[in-house]
Amino acid sequence: MNDTKLLDTNKLIHSLCGEFAKHNQISPEYYERFDVKRGLRNADGTGVMAGVTQIGSVQGYYLQDGERVPMEGRLIYRGIDVEDLIGGFVSENRFGFEETAYLLLFGVLPTRSQLDSFDTMMREMRTLPSMFTEDMILKAPSRDVMNKLARSVLAMYSYDPDPEDNSLENELRQAMQLIARCPILIAHAYAAKVCYFDHGSLYLHRSQEGMGTAENILYAIRHDNRFTEEEARLLDLCLVLHAEHGGGNNSAFACRVLSSSGTDIYSAISAAVGSLKGPRHGGANKKVREMMTCIESEVSDWRSEDQVRKCLTRIVKKETGDRSGLIYGMGHAIYTLSDPRAKVLKRFARRLAEQKGLADKLELIETVERLSPEVFADVKKDSKPICANVDLYSGFVYEMLNIPEELYTPLFATARMVGWCAHRIEEVLTGGRIIRPAYKAVAPAQPFLPMEQR
Ligand code: COA
Repeated sequence: MNDTKLLDTNKLIHSLCGEFAKHNQISPEYYERFDVKRGLRNADGTGVMAGVTQIGSVQGYYLQDGERVPMEGRLIYRGIDVEDLIGGFVSENRFGFEETAYLLLFGVLPTRSQLDSFDTMMREMRTLPSMFTEDMILKAPSRDVMNKLARSVLAMYSYDPDPEDNSLENELRQAMQLIARCPILIAHAYAAKVCYFDHGSLYLHRSQEGMGTAENILYAIRHDNRFTEEEARLLDLCLVLHAEHGGGNNSAFACRVLSSSGTDIYSAISAAVGSLKGPRHGGANKKVREMMTCIESEVSDWRSEDQVRKCLTRIVKKETGDRSGLIYGMGHAIYTLSDPRAKVLKRFARRLAEQKGLADKLELIETVERLSPEVFADVKKDSKPICANVDLYSGFVYEMLNIPEELYTPLFATARMVGWCAHRIEEVLTGGRIIRPAYKAVAPAQPFLPMEQR
C-alpha cells in the first residue's frame, strides 16, 4: 500500500471509530440493574461456581457468615498441597515436572515403574512430525512466540491421523504428545523469531530423548546446548509451580468452554494458549519485566521507599509504565494474603540473586511487593488486600537463568499444557453439557430502514 492510500485508509478507520463509539456504549449501571455477574464474579468478589473438578484447587479466603475472610494462599494438585509435592521430590533428589504431569493427568502419584514408563513414553513423543518446523514454523514465523505456539498447536491437527476421536485413549495420546512437544515448539518458534525478526543466526536443536522437560528446554534454547544441573532443577521447579491453577482460571476455562462444544483437542488448547498470552493472565510475567525496567530507570535511589512509592502511584494513576494502571505481578482473583507460588519462587530467587550479585534488583522487587498494597488502597480507595502473585518473581528467576524475555510466557504455557489437557479430558468425559451462559441484550428495537432513508 502506498503512503497516500495508507493515509486514506487511516482516515477512514478513524471516522469508523467515531461511528462505533456513538453506537456502542454499555452503561456500567446495567450490570447492577440486571444483576449481571461481571467477569463471572459474585457481588462479594468470589467467582461464580461454573463447574466441578478433581484436578486442582486454589484457596485464598474462606467464607464466614457469608463474608470473605482473607487467608494465606494454598494451591492443591489432586488433593496434594503443591508445597508438599515440591518438598517430596526435592528431598528425594529428582526432577518433579513429569511426576506432577502424571499426578494431574491420572489423579494419583505414580509408582517408580509407572513414572519410568510415563517418562519413556514422553521422551519418545517429543520429536516433532517430519518437516513440521520447516513448514509450520520457519515458513510463517511470528514476532510473538505465544502466537506461534497457538498456531503450531492448531497445525498439529493436520499431522494427527485421528484428530477428532475423543475416546479416552486418543485424548491421552494427544495430551501427552502436546506436553512432550511443547519445549521444542517454543524453542523453534523463538529461534525463528530471532532469525527473521531480529536478524540473528538460526539455531535449531532437536529434542533429546535422554532428557526430561526442563533439561530439553535449556538444551534447545541455548546456542551451545550447555546448562548446569542446578539450572535445570530450578526450571523444573518453576514448571511444577505453573502446571495447574484450577478450572476457573481464564485459560483453563477457555479450554473447557471450547471442549464443551465437542471440538477437537487442538482447537481447545490453542484457545487456551491465546488466553494465557494476555497481560492480565500469563503475559503478566513479561509485563513485570517491562514494569521493573521502568521503575529501575525512574527511581534513582532503589532503597528509597518514598521514591518507589511515588513511581508506583504514577503507575496506578496511568501516568507512567504502559499506562494500563496495573501494577503487574500484584493482585489475584482468589489469593488475598499470599500466592504460595510467589512465596516458593521468592525463596529460590533470593538464593540465586545473592550468588549472581543481583540482590539489589531483588530488594527492589520486594519493595514493590511491600508498598503496592498501600499505594493501591490510597489511589483506588479500595481496602481489599492484594498480594504478590507468581509473576512478580517468575520473570526475575528466568532472568537469572539467562532465559530471554520472549520465552517467559511460553514457559508458563509449556507447564500449563498439563493443566489444560487434564481439564480438557475432564470436561470431555464428565462435562456433558455445552457451556453457554447468557448475555442481557440491551439494544433498543429499531426498524430496518431502506438504504435511501438512512
Ligand atoms: N494494579 C492495579 N489495579 C489492580 C491490580 C493491580 N495489580 N489488581 C487489581 N486491580 C484493580 C482492577 O483493575 C480492578 O479495578 P476496577 O474495578 O477499577 O476495574 C479492581 O482492582 C478489581 O480487583 P480484583 O477483583 O481483585 O481483580 P480481578 O480479579 O478483577 O483481577 C488480576 C485479578 C490478576 C487480573 C488483577 O489483579 C491484575 O490485573 N493484576 C495485574 C496483572 C497480573 O499480575 N496478572 C497475573 C495474575 S497471576
